[in-house]
Amino acid sequence: ERGNYRHFMQKEIFEQPTVVAQTLSSYVRQADQTVALPQMDFDLSSIDRMTIVACGTSYYAGMVGRYWIEQFARVPVDIDVASEFRYREPPLPKGGLALFISQSGETADTLAALRYCKARGQTIAAIVNVPTSTMAREADLLLPIHAGPEIGVASTKAFTCQLAVLAALAAKLAVVKGQMQRAEEQEVVRHLLEAPACLNQALDHDDDIAAMAHTIAPARDVLYLGRGADFPMALEGALKLKEISYIHAEGYASGEMKHGPIALIDEDVPVVVIAPSGPLFEKTVSNMQEVRARGGQVVLISDADGLAEAGEGCLATIEMPKVHPLIAPLVYAVPVQLLAYHVALVKGTDVDQPRNLAKSVTVE
Ligand code: M6R
Repeated sequence: ERGNYRHFMQKEIFEQPTVVAQTLSSYVRQADQTVALPQMDFDLSSIDRMTIVACGTSYYAGMVGRYWIEQFARVPVDIDVASEFRYREPPLPKGGLALFISQSGETADTLAALRYCKARGQTIAAIVNVPTSTMAREADLLLPIHAGPEIGVASTKAFTCQLAVLAALAAKLAVVKGQMQRAEEQEVVRHLLEAPACLNQALDHDDDIAAMAHTIAPARDVLYLGRGADFPMALEGALKLKEISYIHAEGYASGEMKHGPIALIDEDVPVVVIAPSGPLFEKTVSNMQEVRARGGQVVLISDADGLAEAGEGCLATIEMPKVHPLIAPLVYAVPVQLLAYHVALVKGTDVDQPRNLAKSVTVE
């Protein structure tokens, strides 16, 4: 049950280091530092196109997965939300792998998309939390996430566990495709195994984030920006805030700011920038400057290097550990979850049962 936590969502956020470690234990073999997937009766190396379909937070996990699969395995990925995918009657690549991501394994649109792909001869993989669910039963390759029951309507630990499985899948695909050498695979395994400790470091910022929530709670609108595999984290941050605090929030790719959303910027619209340091950091810094030049208030979530370079003049900063790009989305999920959670507490909303939402959307 909830134990000492005030809400299931809070408990589930804090369970992440444990459940991600649990998930990883069935996808990486410590002994020889390899990535391992469950047995499958098709040849993974023959896959040269993938389709990913999901809804909500699971869809954002899929978006991160696309960045990784394309980058590491060089396999092109098409991705869509299930409610659009199933009705646009997409042509499907011959011999393609279709991957469905769902915490519940019962979401009506995702299940319908799965059946659409199955009927058209795609190989079906499913990343699900509930092993007895319909999607788990209908998939050719079941990739369970082992997050344990998720009670809070806002998905948290299922998301980071989905990301852990996607990272393993991307690495395995890269290995069988000859895109990842042994040494690199070992390095990826090492970094994945560091994820739980890094998640703990991220959770250590709970108090700072709780304090900062008071400055965000009065806002009517909040923007989230991110780039690359951290762009879906901006979408996820905005969704979490909307769901449980009812503040209007939007996530954008940092580079899209000047194509419209920048018109919204004034001193009343906080902009949360999710930007680990790295090759594209400079670009994000200039996006932040565009925001600041218009009186916008920036909350920068970055590592020590990023904060040293661009932290000055921000409304607030949150320091994340410096991590490999493959685990950054897992680690950066924590501050956006905590920010939404604490803003909701300030607003006094019903965190575990937000209005108008159901845990499992089994109607279309
Ligand atoms: O069970 P599923 O992962 O298929 O659910 C998909 C969405 O309904 C779900 O992620 C929803 O967006 C959550 N409320 C997000 O916090």
